[in-house]
Order: sequence, then structure tokens, then C-alpha cells
Amino acid sequence: MLAFSESVSFDKRLALFDIEASLAHAAMLRKVGILSAREHAAIRTGLKAIARDVSADRFKWETRLEDVHMNIEQALTVKVPAAAKLHTARSRNDQVATDIRLFLKHACAAVSERLHRLQVVLLDLAEANRKVLIPGYTHLQRAQPVSVAHHLLAYVEMLGRDNERFEIVADHANWCPLGCGALAGTTLPIDREYTATLLGFVDPKGKPRVTRNSMDSVADRDSLIEFANACSLTGVHLSRMAEDVVLWCSREFGFARISDAFATGSSLMPQKKNPDSFELIRGKSARLQGNLQTLLTMVKGLPLTYNRDLQEDKIPVFDSFDQVSACLEVATGSLEGMSFDSERCAAAVSDPVLLATDLADYLVEKGVPFRDAHHAVGALVGVAEAEGVALNAVSDEQAAQINDQLKGDWRGVFDLKNAMAKRRGTGMPGPVRVVAEIKRWRRLLGDR
Ligand code: ARG
Repeated sequence: MLAFSESVSFDKRLALFDIEASLAHAAMLRKVGILSAREHAAIRTGLKAIARDVSADRFKWETRLEDVHMNIEQALTVKVPAAAKLHTARSRNDQVATDIRLFLKHACAAVSERLHRLQVVLLDLAEANRKVLIPGYTHLQRAQPVSVAHHLLAYVEMLGRDNERFEIVADHANWCPLGCGALAGTTLPIDREYTATLLGFVDPKGKPRVTRNSMDSVADRDSLIEFANACSLTGVHLSRMAEDVVLWCSREFGFARISDAFATGSSLMPQKKNPDSFELIRGKSARLQGNLQTLLTMVKGLPLTYNRDLQEDKIPVFDSFDQVSACLEVATGSLEGMSFDSERCAAAVSDPVLLATDLADYLVEKGVPFRDAHHAVGALVGVAEAEGVALNAVSDEQAAQINDQLKGDWRGVFDLKNAMAKRRGTGMPGPVRVVAEIKRWRRLLGDR
């Protein structure tokens, strides 16, 4: 049963947060007169020494003491007799809820920093390749030309939303449950607001944020679920990006190459260079989704308040944090070493048929209703296909037969540079707009 029920093997990761919470709790006990100044000082010194031992990896964790909370309290009690008073007006239930909220605030900030670094690398890559055009795809069929920069900026947007999500999770975690006890608070005259302030559970004006219902406080795992959700959605974005890169690096596409450091060869086929880093990112995103599912399922059938099932919540949360962090770092490194093959890209985007919609727009500008213009260009594409020629090589006679507005300068539409320059509206892939977006993001990220 001991081996089955212990959690110290994984919750020791909360040790420094646990000590931080105990220091604040002790200060509060002192403030309300439950600890004497001398007792408080002894507890403080003892806790700080344990924190040093933990940081230096010298602390002796004991499975028989079950979890991080008991291990630290025991170690303290051995050194400091007054430690027997530390657990006054608290329970491991509000203790672990507090520790994990401190952990989540730290984790959200750490993920945000990594998201930020990846966004900067994407911006650098976009800037370096802002003149390279590739086909944009729908249904994985070549659709319309875009710049590599515009494509990469799509991921900068996604990561920007991810960042906002982590900020929201950190904000939701920013309420202090300490002092709620096992589930029904305490008869002792504690000062929860004081503890909350010491631990940094405060609003932007510095006002303490204290949870409002003792039962909810020890039963609630919303912010863990929200964190796992934010991680899994970031994972989905990274996975979609990874899939694009895998395709781009294939011989079939040939748009890009990644550096050797983030690829592997085959043990059998000497010519192979596999984009393993991106494949693993794609694979790990499945794990991030699994962690979210684990948490949701764990909580859904639990009666209020604390149930021991909840001890299992830390494993998926730690794993999501570790894996999303690793994915972000590897994505950053892999993209740093990525290069585009401008010739292959130019060849892929050279087919005039990618500008068929531009020709329809051309007719619209001459007063043809869009539905008719769409139909006419469709017919023109049919003729080009039947004759095995490019769309802009259909004869003037045939074009005029399809629609009498297809005359004169209609072939001018297929000038790719012009076609891109026209896409200057907000959100569009024209070069002027893309450069402005790169600038906007740099400003937002405080990068330049
Ligand atoms: N190790 C426990 C957990 O992580 C701490 C809370 C235990 N509470 C209890 N009443 N046994 O959930």
C-alpha cells in the first residue's frame, strides 16, 4: 500500500513551492499570535535550510513519509521542536492546492518565455525569406500563391493566442486557497489575506486574492485542467507546423531543408535525412491531449471535496509542462537552422493557374458578376487543360469566346509580382503588408 499510495517520487518537484507556502503560513501564524517570535524564527531558519538541501539535491526523500508535505514537515520537526505547531490551521488538502497554484504560475511564465523565443525565430525566418513565394494549399491542393513569410506568420499568430491563454491560466491560478483547511476552514483566528499577500496571490493593484469557498478550494482542479488544455492546444499548433515542415522537407515538395542537428539518417538507407524533430513534436502533441483527458476524467465523478484520486493530478500536469517546453525548444532550434530552396519554391508557384482567381477578380473589375466570372475562368481552365497549355497561353480568340471581357491586357493578370503587390489589405500576403506585420509583431514582442 505504501508503494501504491506514495506520491513523493513525483510531488517532490513541488518542494520549493511547499516551503514557500509554509514560510508564509508560519509568518501568518506569528502575526495572529499562534507562534511566538522565537518559534517563528526557528521554523523560518529550519525551512530555509531544508530549501537549500533540496536545491543542492542533498535532501533525503523518504517513501514511507508518503508525500512532499510530510517529508518536509518531518525533516523540520527533527531539527525544530516548534515545527509541531506549523500544521496549525492547515491541511495537506489546502497545502497541495496552494503548492500547485504556485507551480502553475511559474510554469505559465516559463512556457510564455519559450513561446516568445519561438515567435522571434519564426519572425527572423519570415524576414529572411520574405521574397520567397510558395503555393498556399487548401485540401492539400495548390490553391493560391503566398509568401513563406505569410505562411510562417500564421504560426506566429497561433502562438500569440497560446501566450494569451497561458496568461489567463496564470490569472485563474492566482487565488490563494491556503487556510481553507481540510474542507471547512478553522476555528482559529487566522488571516488568509495576509498569507495570500505574502505568496504573491494579489491582483494588479496588490490586493490579496483569496478563494471564496473552502469546499471548492480543496476540490477544485480547474486551473490544472486549463493549463493542460493550453498545453495541448499549443501542441496542436506545433503539430500542424511540424506537418507543414515535414511536407516541405520531402522530396515531393522540396521547399525546405532542416539542419542536420535536428534530423537523423536511416540505419538502413544511406541517402535518408529524416525530419525527426518535427515528427516527434507531432507525436508528443498526442500525449499532451492525453494528459488533458486524464485530468478531465479524473475529476468528473468526484463528490466534494478532496478525494485521494486527486493526488494523480500532478503527473499529467508535470508531463504537459515538460513536454510542451521541450517541443517549443526543439521547434525553436530546428527552425533556426531551416533554409528554403528558392528555386524549388519558384517552380512550384510558377503555374499561372494559381492566379485563376485573380483573373476572375479582373473580370469583376470590368463589371462581370463574380459568379459569371468564376464560371468563365473555369471554362478557360478547362480549355487550357484540354489543350495541355498554361492558363495564360490560351488564344485570345478562345478567351474572348468564353467571355467578351477577356481581351486586351487579360494576360497581365499573371504577373506574379503584381498579383502579390495587390494583396495589401489587412491580413493579406502582399509584401508590403507582410513587412508591416513582421514589424508589428516585433514591436509586440519587444524584440526591436
Ligand atoms: N499527496 C496528497 C495529494 O497530492 C496531498 C493531500 C493528501 N491529503 C490527504 N487527506 N491524504 O493529493
